[in-house]
Amino acid sequence: MTVHFIGAGPGAPDLLTLRGRDLIAACPVCLYAGSLVPQAVLAHCPPGARVVNTAPMALDDIMAEIAQAHARGLDVARLHSGDLSVWSAMGEQLRRLRALDIPFTVTPGVPAFAAAAAALGTELTLPEVAQSVVLTRTPGRASRMPEGETLSAFAATGATLAVHLSIQNLARVVADLTPHYGPDCPSAVVWRASWPDQRIVRAPLAGIEAAVAGSMERTALILVGPALAAEGFAESALYAPDYDRRFRPQSAESVYRDSRE
Ligand SMILES: C[S@@+](CC[C@H](N)C(=O)[O-])C[C@H]1O[C@@H](n2cnc3c(N)ncnc32)[C@H](O)[C@@H]1O
Repeated sequence: MTVHFIGAGPGAPDLLTLRGRDLIAACPVCLYAGSLVPQAVLAHCPPGARVVNTAPMALDDIMAEIAQAHARGLDVARLHSGDLSVWSAMGEQLRRLRALDIPFTVTPGVPAFAAAAAALGTELTLPEVAQSVVLTRTPGRASRMPEGETLSAFAATGATLAVHLSIQNLARVVADLTPHYGPDCPSAVVWRASWPDQRIVRAPLAGIEAAVAGSMERTALILVGPALAAEGFAESALYAPDYDRRFRPQSAESVYRDSRE
C-alpha cells in the first residue's frame, strides 16, 4: 500500500500530469483538498472509489483515513492544488507517514505561479532584468512569517515577486513594495489562473489596488517586477549566433568541438 501525493495543477483539468492522472485512476481511495482541486480531476477516479474531500477535516482525521486504507491494503491518491512543494501541507503528512512507516510517492503538478505567468504571456526571468523569482506570501491568520522573510527584504533584490495567499492584503503589499520597485513598476493580479472564469488585472504598482477594486478574493496571485512589462531586454547569450556552446561549436578550435554525444 502506498500514498501517492499528486499535484493536481492550478485548475484546468488538462493541466494534470499524465502520471498524476494514471495514479488517480489506479487508486481505490482518493483524498482531495476540495477548496481548490477541480472536480473534473476526480473523474479519473476508478468506479467505486472512496473519494473524500479533506477541506473540512483536521490532520488527525486525514491520517485516520490513510491508516484505514493502509490496514486494508488500499492505495491512496492524495491530491493538492498546484504543485506539492509550496503551501500544500504535504510536509506534515509526510512526517506522519514516515513515523508510521507507510510508503509514499510524490508527483509534481503545475504550480499557480506558472499558470499565472502563462495567462499573462510573460517570462518571469528576463536577461539583465530579473533572474530570480521569489514565491512568497504575507502572514495569514493561521501562518506567521519567519523573521527575515519580509516583502521589503525580497523587494530589495529587485527580483520578480509572486505573492500568494495575499489578495486580501493587497494594500499592504503595495505599501511594502513601492519604496523598492517604485510606483510605476509593472504588476498584475491573476485570479483563478487557467480556470474558465480566469481574470487578469494589470496596472502599475501604484494603481493595482484601484484596478482590482476589491473584485477578487482568495484564489489570486499578485505578480510584481520589471520583467512583467519589459520589452527592451537583452536576448539570452545562449542563442546568440556566435555563442560557443556544446550543442553549437563555433570553430574547429572550440573546446566543445568533440564533446557532443
Ligand atoms: C494554498 S496555496 C496553494 C499553492 C499551490 N500548491 C501551488 O503550487 O501554486 C493557494 C494560493 O495559491 C495561489 N493560487 C492557487 N491556484 C491559483 C490559480 N489558479 N490562480 C491564481 N492563484 C492561485 C493563490 O495565491 C492562493 O491563495
